[in-house]
Amino acid sequence: MAGNAWRSLLTQAVGVAVRKPALASASFSRGVKTVTMIPGDGIGPEISAAVMKIFEAAKAPITWEERNVTAIKGPGGRWMIPPDAKESMDRSKIGLKGPLKTPIAAGHPSMNLLLRKTFDLYANVRPCVSIEGYKTPYTDVNLVTIRENTEGEYSGIEHMIVDGVVQSIKLITENASRRIAEYAFEYARNNKRTSVTAVHKANIMRMSDGLFLRKCREVAENYKDIKFTEMYLDTVCLNMVQDPTQFDVLVMPNLYGDILSDLCAGLIGGLGVTPSGNIGANGVAIFESVHGTAPDIAGMDLANPTALLLSAVMMLHHMGLHDHADKIQTACFDTIRDKKVLTKDLGGSAKCSEFTAEICRRVQDLD
Ligand code: NAI
Repeated sequence: MAGNAWRSLLTQAVGVAVRKPALASASFSRGVKTVTMIPGDGIGPEISAAVMKIFEAAKAPITWEERNVTAIKGPGGRWMIPPDAKESMDRSKIGLKGPLKTPIAAGHPSMNLLLRKTFDLYANVRPCVSIEGYKTPYTDVNLVTIRENTEGEYSGIEHMIVDGVVQSIKLITENASRRIAEYAFEYARNNKRTSVTAVHKANIMRMSDGLFLRKCREVAENYKDIKFTEMYLDTVCLNMVQDPTQFDVLVMPNLYGDILSDLCAGLIGGLGVTPSGNIGANGVAIFESVHGTAPDIAGMDLANPTALLLSAVMMLHHMGLHDHADKIQTACFDTIRDKKVLTKDLGGSAKCSEFTAEICRRVQDLD
């Protein structure tokens, strides 16, 4: 089931995105398209190179514009992404991004956050579906987490009140809550999913999560065909590890989404195999692997490119290039199911380059 479920899920994942007014799939469907490639740090350049090789083998009609997004200081000392990266994204509208390192408690802010803010990438969509042949304690996982990506606990508003007392503001707005709730319900409807669960802690954070939940309830009124449930975050965590098959689409504020989406990735084999898409209000979308820069294995040809590759498959669907997406995905899953050429994190001993070559070979065989 897993292979087919993934195929339809990733195809469906596109459904909502292409319906966004600013992003018509038709505009992507013909000719060679430009995609902004942000290779990132650590293992980023290795896995990006792997994806580009596989795309070449699949003859995907994509040209890459590689851009670095190291933090720079703009006018007034504000951190910003380099203008050439912004200009490329503004033009291409579509990005594929490897991991970016974030300094802890000093230096520039998270570049991932800055990208999300710069392009108003308000919805983070992560499909989590069991992968055939890759054994985990869970089978038949088939859910999607939709995380509000722009505010909540990650608003970046922090200050020291007095020495030894620090305040961090969790910002929840009516507009962002309504927007993410509408996205989740549209997604569910377009993808023939049956339920949306709002994940919250409105019992404790009555005003902030209360507002988020109220907006979800209001939006649910317009989607009577989709079952709406609301659940406390802690209850979702408990139920998720006991039986993830009870969940379908889950929508939640930023921090909860960050944590819960990683937990869900763990159910299907971890961040190395989980794709992700960030959908923006203005037609921009950035697809990314959700693992980090893996500094312990960077430059050693040991990285697993699957997460970035599956994110690139999501991206191809988003662009209406379904045939190329299917071909690459089939080659990737066949390689994993076969178990002969796997990277270490997947239980094998192959290098990143060997795993990539195997997928390329299979892609070409599918022609
Ligand atoms: P990490 O994900 O980089 O590494 C955790 C463990 O997973 C390591 O043992 C690593 O070798 C392994 N791993 C991760 N991706 C892998 C892959 N594709 N193939 C094989 N093994 C893989 O997490 P960590 O160490 O907490 O973070 C390192 C840096 O990455 C930090 O600077 C952090 O800020 C950044 N980061 C960036 C993210 C992004 O850009 N989306 C997400 C998470 C962390």
